[in-house]
Amino acid sequence: MDAMKATLSEPRRVTVLGSTGSVGANTLDLLERNPGSYLVEALTANSNATLLAEQARRLKPRLAVVADERQYPALKSALAGSGVEAAAGPEAVVEAALRPSDWVMAAIVGAAGLRPTLAAVRRGAVVALANKECLVSAGRLMMREVGAAGATLLPVDSEHSAIFQCFDFERREGVEKIILTASGGPFRTFSAVQMESVTPAQAVRHPNWSMGAKISVDSATMMNKGLELIEAHHLFDLPSERIEILVHPQSVVHSLVAYVDGSVLAHLGTPDMRTPIAYALGWPRRMHAPSARLNLAEIGQLSFEAPDFERFPALRLAREALGEGGLAPTVLNAANEVAVQAFLDGAIAFTSIARIVEKVLGLASPGRGESLEDIASADQAARQIASGLVPCR
Ligand SMILES: NC(=O)c1ccc[n+]([C@@H]2O[C@H](COP(=O)([O-])OP(=O)(O)OC[C@H]3O[C@@H](n4cnc5c(N)ncnc54)[C@H](OP(=O)(O)O)[C@@H]3O)[C@@H](O)[C@H]2O)c1
Repeated sequence: MDAMKATLSEPRRVTVLGSTGSVGANTLDLLERNPGSYLVEALTANSNATLLAEQARRLKPRLAVVADERQYPALKSALAGSGVEAAAGPEAVVEAALRPSDWVMAAIVGAAGLRPTLAAVRRGAVVALANKECLVSAGRLMMREVGAAGATLLPVDSEHSAIFQCFDFERREGVEKIILTASGGPFRTFSAVQMESVTPAQAVRHPNWSMGAKISVDSATMMNKGLELIEAHHLFDLPSERIEILVHPQSVVHSLVAYVDGSVLAHLGTPDMRTPIAYALGWPRRMHAPSARLNLAEIGQLSFEAPDFERFPALRLAREALGEGGLAPTVLNAANEVAVQAFLDGAIAFTSIARIVEKVLGLASPGRGESLEDIASADQAARQIASGLVPCR
């Protein structure tokens, strides 16, 4: 008993992959509000060496890594005298994930997060998964490795965190279906014609959540919900037809689990990522989060509507890719990453994102292999086809 108390009161060693992003910064906010409870092993970024060094000086990790090697001199000099080791390059990000922390936040955006996340999984860590693209791209491989290594995967996406908290894993035969809610994004009420001319600045302005650029655009096309559908399929081991999507503009009900007796359990909260991050950070216990408290009397009304697959074709494409199986979701994800970046760069129209993804899904023949090499080559081929469809500027 005393030994157990001692273990519980020892600071937990944590690593944050993608610490300079929106989820990463929210994670650091929670860590800093609980001094003495956590020791930071490693922090990583892509190219933002200035912010990474600032974070490292505050949180005192053993290691700070920037994936972009050109930023190494800047990181190294910003950390001079701090006692924090600096490193650079994609392999160093994987190395950060391999360092012996108990808990790893996987908050890199896109398929770039796959190898580091897999490295943390393979050493049996508790992995808080925000990086949904790696489950979309390599879901079967990832879940197999989680099982083989005895790792723990805790969802950070608010919808999946909600389902995780309402799902009866001990008696899963009682679960009829799960229902993922979607805000509908900034263009929920736009016509298809209006959507032709929306700008990146409009697309990244999400009505309820403050997030990174890529996921904000995904929310606007509703590809985000498509990616979450595939993520939920892997996390909860349910077929596509038992995962429903429901538009709920207020983002108060974060998702629901429907049971065979007609009961439906819902998870509610204000839209603040620190709540699901705190759930994953404190798991299996609850920890305090500073998120605004839900006041339903003030909100007054909640509304729900069916998704429109015509105006938001990305949702249909994701469901089709999941139905096709094999490496179709890898292709979907890679093509979407290229198309979203092209839209953010001003090279294509908003509505071309789904058009490009659909074309790439039709042109690629990725096969059904399940190794990391198969996944990487399907991802690369899809990126190449998608890039070829982006007009030169
Ligand atoms: N934001 C949310 O509220 C939210 C909610 C649910 C799920 N998610 C998921 O969480 C993930 C992160 O989202 P976010 O909104 O936090 O994204 P973000 O703000 O764009 O941050 C992304 C992070 O990943 C790093 N990164 C980008 N490319 C990289 C690469 N090639 N190698 C290594 N690191 C790289 C970035 O470093 P730099 O800063 O140096 O570029 C940054 O630290 C995404 O998968 C997203 O779908 C986010």
